Amino acid sequence: MSRPLIDANRCEGHARCVARAPELFDVDDEGVSFVLVEEVPAHLADAAREAAQACPERAISLTDD
Ligand code: F3S
Repeated sequence: MSRPLIDANRCEGHARCVARAPELFDVDDEGVSFVLVEEVPAHLADAAREAAQACPERAISLTDD
């Protein structure tokens, strides 16, 4: 299982993470992404990786336990 982390200092609100994985990410009123889960469910592992790679600011990291 991996844990998604957002670097709020890098996030610019592009919302590509939300488009790729709406089950995992959302954007708050100030345009900063946040994670909706503690751990990425196995069936969303590919979506999590795609979301991280889609972020132009490289604000998303996935840490393995
Ligand atoms: Fe932020 Fe990147 Fe998502 S800039 S809103 S973490 S695509």
